[in-house]
Amino acid sequence: MALAGALAANSAEVEQRAEKLVDSMTLEEQIQLLRPLAATSFQFAPGANTFPETLRKPLPDGAIGSAGFVPAIPRLSWPALQESDGPLGVANMKAWIRGIEDQATALPASIAWAASFDPLLAERAGEVIGAEAHAKGFNVMLSGAVNLAREPRNGRTFEYAGEDPLLAGTIIGANIAGIQSRKVVSTIKHYALNDQESGRGVLDVRISEAAARESDLMAFEIAIARGRPGSVMCSYNKVNGDHSCENDWLLNQVLKGDWGFRGWVMSDWGGVHDLRKAVMSGLDQHSPQDRDHFAGLAEAVARGEIPAARVRDMALRIVRSMIAVGALDNAAKSGGAIDREANMAVAQAQAEAGAVLLKNDGVLPLDAKMRIVLIGGYADIGVLLGGGGSMVNPYGGILHQDGAIGLAALGKWSFVPSSPLAALRELLPGAEIRFDDGKDATRAVKAASDADVAIVFALKQATENFDVADLSLPNDQDALIAAVAAANARTVVVLETGNPIVMPWLGSVKAVLQAWYPGQRGGEAIAAVLTGKVSPSGRLPITFPGSVEQLPRRKVDGFDPQATLFSPPPAPFAVDYHEGSDVGYRWFQRTKAEPLFPFGFGLTYTEFRHTELEVEGRRQLKVSFTVTNVGKRAGVDVPQLYVAPPGRTHRLAGWQRIALQPGESRRVTIIAEPRILASYEKNRWRRAGGIYDVRVAPSASLSGLRGTARLTEEEG
Ligand code: BGC
Repeated sequence: MALAGALAANSAEVEQRAEKLVDSMTLEEQIQLLRPLAATSFQFAPGANTFPETLRKPLPDGAIGSAGFVPAIPRLSWPALQESDGPLGVANMKAWIRGIEDQATALPASIAWAASFDPLLAERAGEVIGAEAHAKGFNVMLSGAVNLAREPRNGRTFEYAGEDPLLAGTIIGANIAGIQSRKVVSTIKHYALNDQESGRGVLDVRISEAAARESDLMAFEIAIARGRPGSVMCSYNKVNGDHSCENDWLLNQVLKGDWGFRGWVMSDWGGVHDLRKAVMSGLDQHSPQDRDHFAGLAEAVARGEIPAARVRDMALRIVRSMIAVGALDNAAKSGGAIDREANMAVAQAQAEAGAVLLKNDGVLPLDAKMRIVLIGGYADIGVLLGGGGSMVNPYGGILHQDGAIGLAALGKWSFVPSSPLAALRELLPGAEIRFDDGKDATRAVKAASDADVAIVFALKQATENFDVADLSLPNDQDALIAAVAAANARTVVVLETGNPIVMPWLGSVKAVLQAWYPGQRGGEAIAAVLTGKVSPSGRLPITFPGSVEQLPRRKVDGFDPQATLFSPPPAPFAVDYHEGSDVGYRWFQRTKAEPLFPFGFGLTYTEFRHTELEVEGRRQLKVSFTVTNVGKRAGVDVPQLYVAPPGRTHRLAGWQRIALQPGESRRVTIIAEPRILASYEKNRWRRAGGIYDVRVAPSASLSGLRGTARLTEEEG
């Protein structure tokens, strides 16, 4: 049952080279590797409470400037470590704030990669990130974010890959492999259970070991096995009493012990509290933060509190990963060539594949000759970006709500200049397409009643550091949609949100398309899907609840609606993850609650039928079935395999993406991921012997083909 593939396996040659290099470093040089300097002028100086005060810090010599920097050791030809933020592209907003133009491909939010259910596309997105980082001189990307969407109001949900460990781990593992194929280290983060932003530095997550292993840790385990990242970033929060970066169980026992991880563990910015505890619990590198706890490392070694051998191991882990991904032999240099067009095309393909059609009562795809009005959501200028450290300064330059520029733009919504209005006009030259900004509901209603179709763009920006208060659209957008729908019976809603939302107007609109934050060519992608140039093929990687009452927690613990970036942290508090490993759709199944839209759900412009299920299983579980496109258009189906071990909830155990022409059929086989069938009991993985309920379904609602398998007991 062990996950396939050795974890971060390195050849003997890499090992020998790494050991030789580390052994030729002095203790001071080894320690230098473990203490990156802040490479940003965006430091929160103590006492600062406005942005200008944070902008004063000069860059260290040799730093390109983004997140972190370790100076080179020229006598050993050891390169500087230049770290940049991800995970949605080479994010360098800190440079942008300082006024340096540094643009990159803004990929769609990773929740859209997960919605594509397509690891190949996620890998291509990774190649774009890796190639651009390399051409800008960065050799370490803080990319590969895989925290589970246990709390759908988490402000960073858009940076992650949904609520299912197999889907999230598969998508992010593929993305990491793509980044590292371009000779840049990728850093999977935030390990672990950093599932909300409120109080992230003081929060203590209480969860049983078994539940953690079967949920959040499994997403990391799968992504690490598949992507083999050179680095892991431990998170801000505590897990069962200890901060993640000082947590022997998480770092030494699970990550380095059970999973055999041979790369390095870096702290999140501000995640270290105690030198000795951190080092002895498995932290290898102290990322920049106000107080440098590693400043006393050499003295602690001299006093015998920390063995020199441990420092050597810490440095070796960094050197080994850099050599293993090829970052030493193919040094990143700024000024390299970037194929912008090709990279933006990948971003567009990803946005198209990740858009999820949630409702369509015959209005989509749009007709070529209609009178169409687009309403609201700044659809004339571009598409929304998620906020925080992941925000990429896109090609074409960032745009801000209502034309704000410079510091006045902080706190305003930010946009990629990819206009859905312009893109629709281009794809439908015979249609009459107008725009109304939606700011005056009466005017918008008038515009809607004069058109054949009204398309309302509804937006909600989520951002790092803050959770969203609820699952509603802000700024009276619900009322605007309801008013438009009352005036035009053919109303379509396009959502640009990073979290699930509730839709009080759902019954009165004809179609809903969830476009997430669709990135660099988001406008073009939305237009392609609305017009049918591309058939929608995305599926929800996260349950859309009917209301917050259906969630394990009514409120996000520690949520403060008044919080700003400069608020002091709340008093320490604990959150009990009593739902255990029943995250997302598993919780809905356990509580028999009916969501607004289930995990895995998504429509397209044709229909598929699944027939002739065959289940084979004793040692491994294999299902075969026939998929037929019974509609009139070509399309992509994503049949999903859900399996319930005896007495447990159903779990996604596999899926496939299948493109079929009208009338075409194909026999499909899916082998269930063995680890998903097992449970963690008494300190080990065990697959119970007995009858397993098997479903092949279009979503976690489980409507579809049913079977059973009698599986043998397996351990390991
Ligand atoms: C975030 C990380 C990020 C780091 C460096 C932290 O606040 O949690 O995701 O990589 O800053 O910018």
